Amino acid sequence: MDELKHKTLNEQKWDRWAEGLDAKNRRNDYLRKAQHNLIALLPIKEGVSLLDIGCGTGWAVGDAAKVVGDKGTFYGVDMSAKMIDKAKENYQGRPGIQFMQANAESIPLADDMFDIIICTHSFHHYLHPDKALSEMNRLLRKGGRVYILDPTADSRIIRFADRIIRVLEPAHVKIYSTAEFHFMISRSGLRYGGCRVIGSNQKVHMGEKVY
Ligand SMILES: C[S@@+](CC[C@H](N)C(=O)[O-])C[C@H]1O[C@@H](n2cnc3c(N)ncnc32)[C@H](O)[C@@H]1O
Repeated sequence: MDELKHKTLNEQKWDRWAEGLDAKNRRNDYLRKAQHNLIALLPIKEGVSLLDIGCGTGWAVGDAAKVVGDKGTFYGVDMSAKMIDKAKENYQGRPGIQFMQANAESIPLADDMFDIIICTHSFHHYLHPDKALSEMNRLLRKGGRVYILDPTADSRIIRFADRIIRVLEPAHVKIYSTAEFHFMISRSGLRYGGCRVIGSNQKVHMGEKVY
């Protein structure tokens, strides 16, 4: 798809979603639970530097910061201006927490800044996933890790759903299989660290910056 058209459709969609993402309902409970389960796996210690790409209204950033009583640096970026506005409103006054509007494929932050990068329910929307992975590699410190939590096309039902969503939602890009995550993460220069099942049809794929 044409880049500008994809960007416009995507931004419009997520700006519309921003208002409802903090509401109490089944969909949001499902997203929060998966994010919470991911955060429980992370090696978060005092002084950690963590980035959430496609952070929505900032929920996972706030949850991660709570683990160390805000003693660290916690960033969230999202392409939707409305998501970022909500995130800033939600976490106003919390030390160490910052949000910024940015596309996952080009993030205006310095090299080697983060120990941990997370990306939840967002990666399958990226038009150029290789560019997003290359940004993750650039932003991680040596020894740092990325955790991508996403639906994973390892079953026929998810591959079928992926095809249907592509028809219904023009801005949808692709739900990847574990083999594709392994290949793309390795091609970005990170070492693929395997995956874990987090929820039904969702996996977290890990990558480590070893060089
Ligand atoms: C389904 S929401 C998930 C939000 C949150 N991470 C969660 O797990 O609840 C997908 C998010 O990805 C963001 N997003 C989609 N494409 C993006 C891109 N290219 N760069 C940055 N954010 C993007 C959207 O704006 C939206 O906030």
